Amino acid sequence: MTYAVVGFVLEKLENLLIHEADLFRRVEGDVKSLQDDLHIMNAFLKDSEGKGEGQEMVEVLINLIREAAFEAEDVINTYMAQVIKQRRRELLMKLFHGFDQAVVLHHVAEKTQSVNGRIENIYANKTTFGIEAQSHVDKEAGQSLQQRRRNVEEEDMVGFEDDTAKLVHQLTDQRRSQRDVISIIGMGGLGKTTLARKIYNNTHIKYHFDHCAWVNVSQEYKTRMLILDILQCVGQISDETYKMSDEQLKVTLRDNLKGKRYFVVMDDVWKPQFWDEIRACFPNDSNGSRILITSREKEVASNAGPTPPYLLPFLDEEASWQLLCKKAFRGEKCPSNLESLGRKLAESCKGLPLSVVVLGGILANKEKTHQTWSNFVGNVNWFLIDDDKTRSSDILDLSYKQLPRKLRLCFLYVGVFPEDYVIPARTLIQMWVAEGFISVQNDSRKMDEIDVAEYYLEELIDRSLIQVASRRSDGGVKTCRIHGLLRDLCIKMSIQEKFYEVRVNSADLRCSSNGSIPRRLSIQDSIDSESISSSSTSNNSISVGSLLLFTSYFRYNTLEWASKNFSLSDCCLLRLVIHLIIRLLFLRKCDS
Ligand SMILES: Nc1ncnc2c1ncn2[C@@H]1O[C@H](COP(=O)(O)OP(=O)(O)OP(=O)(O)O)[C@@H](O)[C@H]1O
Ligand SMILES: [Mg+2]
Repeated sequence: MTYAVVGFVLEKLENLLIHEADLFRRVEGDVKSLQDDLHIMNAFLKDSEGKGEGQEMVEVLINLIREAAFEAEDVINTYMAQVIKQRRRELLMKLFHGFDQAVVLHHVAEKTQSVNGRIENIYANKTTFGIEAQSHVDKEAGQSLQQRRRNVEEEDMVGFEDDTAKLVHQLTDQRRSQRDVISIIGMGGLGKTTLARKIYNNTHIKYHFDHCAWVNVSQEYKTRMLILDILQCVGQISDETYKMSDEQLKVTLRDNLKGKRYFVVMDDVWKPQFWDEIRACFPNDSNGSRILITSREKEVASNAGPTPPYLLPFLDEEASWQLLCKKAFRGEKCPSNLESLGRKLAESCKGLPLSVVVLGGILANKEKTHQTWSNFVGNVNWFLIDDDKTRSSDILDLSYKQLPRKLRLCFLYVGVFPEDYVIPARTLIQMWVAEGFISVQNDSRKMDEIDVAEYYLEELIDRSLIQVASRRSDGGVKTCRIHGLLRDLCIKMSIQEKFYEVRVNSADLRCSSNGSIPRRLSIQDSIDSESISSSSTSNNSISVGSLLLFTSYFRYNTLEWASKNFSLSDCCLLRLVIHLIIRLLFLRKCDS
C-alpha cells in the first residue's frame, strides 16, 4: 500500500530531478545525493511490500520514508517555483532576493541520508526483519476467505430468480451447439459464486449435461490441480492419475470429456491468460457443452470467448431487506417497530449482498432495539470495514492488491467524492491528470495524458471497481460512481497513508484523524455564507497540496474563504482546475 502512495511521490521526484536538471544546477551535489537516496528508498518499498508486515521497525521506517518523501516533494516544488521567479527578476533584484531554498534542499538531503542509513541497517538484517520471507499473511487471508465464501447458504438465498432463469436458458439452449464459455462478472461480494452455485445445483442443468464439474480457481491457481479437480468431479481418478505429467493429465481430461455434453464451472478467475492454459482440455464436439466462469474482471470473459458476459446487477431494495431479516433474526420475524429502520439500514448497503450479510451478522449479535440499531444509521460501511470477525474489507482488499501500481492511486482517489456522487468522467480524468497520476513517459502508443486517463478509467470499470452510471452517444463513459463500501475502504487506506482525508464538516478542518495534516483535503459540506464569513477571520491557514470543496452554495467569497483558510498559494498562483456547475471547486498547488 505505502509503495503505491509514497513510491509515486518518489518516482515523480526522481523524474523531475532528471528532466529539470537545469533548474537544480546550483545545488547539483545535494540533488545527486537526494536522487540516489530516493532511488534506494523506492527500491526498499518495492522490495518490502507485503513482507515484514507488523514488524515495528519496518513500519517505523516506512513512516520515516513517507515523511521524507513528502518533505522532499514540498521543498522541491517550492525550490523550482523560486528558481523560476528568480529567473524572471532583474539583476539587482536577483542579488537582493538571494534565496535560501538551497539551504532547505540541503537539509532534506541530509534527512533522507539518515533514513537511508537505517535502510542499510535493515538490509543487513534482512532475515531478522522478515524482508526476505514470503507474505504468509496474504496467503492465509486468501485461504480463509476461500473457506468463508464457499459457505454459500442456499436456504438463505434471496432473489436471483430472473438471473438463474436467463442463465439456465442460455446454458441449455439447444440451438447453440458449439462449445460456449459464459461469464458472470461483477464486483467482489456481489453474489457471483452464489448464483453460479444455484445454477450448478439446478435440476434442469443436472439433467441436461452428462458431466458436471465445479472448480475454485482463485488468484494462485495451479493448472495441474484444476485438471485433477475436474477429473475428480467427472469420476475418473486413480493413483496412476497423480503420477501423470501435466501434459498427460490434459490429454486424459480431454479424452474423458470427448463426445460428452459437459458443464464446468470455474469460480473466481482472476487472470485472463488462465483460459489459454486450459482451453485445450475442453473438446468442442458441437453437442452444447458449456463452461461457466465467474470473475471480477471483464477481460477474463473477453479472453475466454466472444459471448458477452452476464453483468450481475445489484440486489433490489426488497431483496436486500429480505436478506437482512434472514441474517439478523435467523428465521424469526422482524418486530414491526424495527422494520422502517431496518429497511433504511438494508438500503444503505446499496444492493451489495456481502454488505447485507455482514451487517445482518453484526445485528444478529446485538440487542434488537431501536436505540442500538439507530447507531448504525449513516455509518453502516464503517461498521462493516471495522468488523474484525467477518473482515469484509479483506474480500475487497484483494481487488486492490491485484491492481497494477499505475491504477492504484487513481482508484484510491475516487474516494474523495461524496457518497453516492455521480462523478462526471471528464472531471475525474482531469483531476487525475492535474494530480500528476497519469504518466505518459513510458507509453509507446503516443497517447496524451487524457487518453491514458480514459484508458485507466475503462480498466477500473472492467475490474468492477467503478460502475458506469451513464454513457455518451459514442459509447464512452459519461458519468460513473463507486460503491459505498469500496469508497470507505479507499478513504480508510488513504488516511493511513496521509494521501487524503475527507471532512463532512467544515467546522473541524484542523483536527486530523491521525494528528497530522494530510496532503489533500476533501470537504463535503454545505459551506453557506454564514460559515464562510465566520471562518474567514482565521489567520492560521492550513497547508495542503490539493483542496476539494463540494458545496451546494458556491458564492463569490468561497474562493476567498478557501484562500484564507488554506495556504495553497505559497508556491505561486492558485490554479483553478475545475469549477463544475458550482458543485465542486478543485484547487491544486502548482509548480510553475
Ligand atoms: N442472493 C443472495 N442471497 C443471499 N445471500 C447472498 C446472495 N448473494 C450473495 N450472498 C452472500 O453474500 C456473500 C458474497 O457472495 P459471493 O461469495 O457469492 O460473492 P462473489 O461475487 O462471488 O464475490 P467474490 O468476487 O469475492 O468471489 C456470501 O456470503 C453469500 O452467501
Ligand atoms: Mg466468488
